[in-house]
Amino acid sequence: MSHRVLITGGTGMLGRTLARVFSDLEVVSVGSKDADLTLESQARRLVKESRATVVLHSAAMTAVDLCETERERAFQLNALATEYVARAARDSGARLITISTDYVFAGTLDRPYHEWDACGPNTVYGFTKRLAEEAAQRECNNHLIVRTAWLYGEEGPSFVHTMSKLGAEDGAPLRVVRDQLGNPTSTLALARHLRRVLDVPVKGTMHLSCEGETSWFGFARAIFEHHGFKRVLEPCTTADFPRPAPRPANSRLDKRVLRLLGLPPMPTWQDALAEFLGSRG
Ligand SMILES: NC(=O)c1ccc[n+]([C@@H]2O[C@H](COP(=O)([O-])OP(=O)(O)OC[C@H]3O[C@@H](n4cnc5c(N)ncnc54)[C@H](OP(=O)(O)O)[C@@H]3O)[C@@H](O)[C@H]2O)c1
Repeated sequence: MSHRVLITGGTGMLGRTLARVFSDLEVVSVGSKDADLTLESQARRLVKESRATVVLHSAAMTAVDLCETERERAFQLNALATEYVARAARDSGARLITISTDYVFAGTLDRPYHEWDACGPNTVYGFTKRLAEEAAQRECNNHLIVRTAWLYGEEGPSFVHTMSKLGAEDGAPLRVVRDQLGNPTSTLALARHLRRVLDVPVKGTMHLSCEGETSWFGFARAIFEHHGFKRVLEPCTTADFPRPAPRPANSRLDKRVLRLLGLPPMPTWQDALAEFLGSRG
């Protein structure tokens, strides 16, 4: 099926991969220099001039800790900008696919969160991303909210990049949190699934993160094993590393909608990680 896709956040980690994976389609990929989405006039002009049939909204303020101190910026960029993009998509007759996060959940359930679970963000980032979801629901009937988590991709910055650098250095044992669980997800795996989803007229909310689960410690260990690093890894707890924005203990996402639609599952996090690290040599 042919689509003309506008990618916002095209200069970001996910956006760069999306443009590469969508190379069979007509793509307009933009960053903040092309249009400041916190200004409704610019969001509207961008969507209209792109003549997109699908607006894939990936732009956001993703620095989770910074959102705690620069709250107004987080509201502006995550909540308001999404509202502007959603309205512009509606007025242009385009489908809106907006990228969201596990941070919309409280992270306290003892099982993976599915798409119908109640939200309860505990951070400014999570709260403003939830407002973004609500704006998409309110402003653009033809919307799909795609929640993902623990992303890494070419050029980073990401946990994989940090661990690949720190593991290669000599030094004291590296302490990594073991009491937070999630689904490490490559931007490549997510982009490939989003490419499939483009051809399916599904509306509502869908979770897309890699299959399987681990802790940050388990994720670090897999990265170290791949590289053959000798530096010692030591498990620690969230309480050992207080952060301005509290991290969810449970970031695991159940891909229930994907299953119910009969679409292929996401790859396992181990396979996606091996592909990513293998491609970097
Ligand atoms: N990274 C993760 O682990 C993760 C996990 C779950 C969900 N997500 C979601 O996935 C999406 C992509 O994340 P990412 O990590 O790829 O983000 P990122 O690398 O931080 O990129 C953010 C993008 O937003 C753009 N942007 C910032 N301010 C803007 C403005 N005023 N107007 C227009 N564009 C603006 C940036 O453009 P410039 O660079 O040109 O300024 C950049 O392209 C986000 O919606 C995020 O919330 C991410």
